Amino acid sequence: MKIVLLGPPGAGKGTQAKQISNDYNIPHISTGDMFRKNISEKTELGIKAKGYMDKGLLVPDELTIDIVKDRLSNEDCKNGFLLDGFPRTVKQAEALDSFLTEPIDTALLIEVPRDNILERMTGRRVCPKCGASYHIKFNPSKIEMKCDVCGSELIQRKDDSVETVAERLDVYYKQTEPLVEYYKSKNVLCTVDGTKDINIVFEDIKDVLGRN
Ligand code: AP5
Ligand code: MG
Repeated sequence: MKIVLLGPPGAGKGTQAKQISNDYNIPHISTGDMFRKNISEKTELGIKAKGYMDKGLLVPDELTIDIVKDRLSNEDCKNGFLLDGFPRTVKQAEALDSFLTEPIDTALLIEVPRDNILERMTGRRVCPKCGASYHIKFNPSKIEMKCDVCGSELIQRKDDSVETVAERLDVYYKQTEPLVEYYKSKNVLCTVDGTKDINIVFEDIKDVLGRN
């Protein structure tokens, strides 16, 4: 199963991706997580990407497409994968189509209106080690500021400040939302309501994937 997850920042892509990846046994590939790993390791790519991410802007296509192409060539992607945060521009979507031998099965849009996003983002806490994502109100960790999965100290993402979230949302509506039409025209777009409780959203996703 080859799935692309679409949705604005804070829609719940990462949260749902962890569950989908476990249930369907396909790797969860997040370009945001890949960039954050490169930043923490201070690689050349990380240093370049950081400047864009801190401002809430997209990392240029030239730096993004190749890392995904390379990752998808790994053995664990042979039976499918779940892309979270890629593609994010029409150019990235066209590149993805060009390097896959078969088209993707489902582009899954998690819909959340702009008004709900800010509270989600400013209350988000993430694990820098394993990438698990929590929310102080909607999805708290069992022990305050400690990851349920690996016990690491949780942090707030640098790009989750009010100003950067506003910029990321503008970028999403300008550069990424056109992909909804792109995948609709290919008859692979499915939509779920991302404002419901996390577990209900996951049940809805399983329904949609079961039908496809
Ligand atoms: P990336 O890491 O992909 O960030 P994003 O798309 O902005 O999305 P987020 O990770 O912020 O949100 P999410 O949808 O995963 O939500 P989550 O599940 O965490 O990208 C970061 C940056 O990297 C970009 O700005 C860009 O610079 C760069 N980048 C990455 N990919 C790129 C690409 N392809 N091209 C160019 N640049 C790229 O949930 C959010 C919060 O809400 C959490 O606290 C969670 O607990 C809570 N929550 C989740 N679901 C629910 C629910 N149903 N109800 C209540 N709360 C919920
Ligand atoms: Mg995410």
